[in-house]
Amino acid sequence: MKKRILSGMRPTGKLHLGHLVGALDNWVKLQDEYECYFMVADWHALMGDYERSHQMREFITENVIDWLCAGLDPEKSNIFVQSQVFQHLELNMVFSCLTPLGWLERCPTYKEQLREVETRNLNTYGFLGYPVLQAADILLYKANAVPVGEDQLPHLELTREIARRFNGLYKQEIFPDPQALLTKVPRLLGLDGRKMSKSYDNAVNLSDTAEAINKKISNMFTDPKRIKLMDKGHPDICNVYSYYATFVPSMKESVFDWCRNAKTGCTACKKQLAEGLIKALEPFHERRKALSGDTNKIKKILEAGRENASNFASNTMKEVKEAIGI
Ligand code: TRP
Ligand code: SF4
Repeated sequence: MKKRILSGMRPTGKLHLGHLVGALDNWVKLQDEYECYFMVADWHALMGDYERSHQMREFITENVIDWLCAGLDPEKSNIFVQSQVFQHLELNMVFSCLTPLGWLERCPTYKEQLREVETRNLNTYGFLGYPVLQAADILLYKANAVPVGEDQLPHLELTREIARRFNGLYKQEIFPDPQALLTKVPRLLGLDGRKMSKSYDNAVNLSDTAEAINKKISNMFTDPKRIKLMDKGHPDICNVYSYYATFVPSMKESVFDWCRNAKTGCTACKKQLAEGLIKALEPFHERRKALSGDTNKIKKILEAGRENASNFASNTMKEVKEAIGI
């Protein structure tokens, strides 16, 4: 029997290169080894973006297209939308009853967001419960493992505590102890050297055209100490070089040499990176051409995913209700 995994992404905007190397490439690899549930976490998106949710439907479809272009295969994996499987909220309710407030108030991601996010009001009842819903997502499918980035570890720790508390209270081993499948990825910074984020508008999106990629890469920040062509550069601190390492690894050595020994200027270096990146993304773009516009196909995939997910979820909820006594 294959082990099961569940993971999710919030549909808060277009997906970019960070999503590809940070999550999608890894999801694609896991498809053969595990029984996979990949979920568009629209309720979680609403928790943070409830004041501007009007584009959510569009983001959901576009994100799923990007998932498919990256190589997620609906024949192998269950791809579905969280809000279409009502049991997520049911289990969220159960877990809300037994999760002590202190666990949530102490959660480092929660404290950090409240401190740092200034443009949205996150001081809400729903947002405090963000990790409770995430625990419901994971445990509804009795997932053994959850592929996530490091930033999500506190949520996984809470998931395990909630599972143990439920099992303990109702004296049944209904829920497993899900493990994090940490994705080891080179940290890819945004085009301006800050954290890659849609709110900074500093990323190459997966749906960007070749023209857009050229333009964005040409504006990338480079080694600030390299001003004239004769200055020797420092590839190790240059963001452009880290993009080479990730997307055009075959050119890594020559770029290092050109830069270190001042053989090429930064403009040429970036132009070449753009070409390499466009080439690396070519298969992705080909698939995107075929898929975008085919909303029917996306609908069908999500409908099949919803059905499988719902079947599993309703079995779990039967056991849960039985155990509780309702
Ligand atoms: N919180 C996750 C994120 O922001 C998204 C998410 C929601 C998730 N539910 C999940 C991830 C369940 C893994 C498992 O990235
Ligand atoms: Fe960066 Fe390339 Fe310029 Fe070197 S030549 S500093 S790697 S952009």
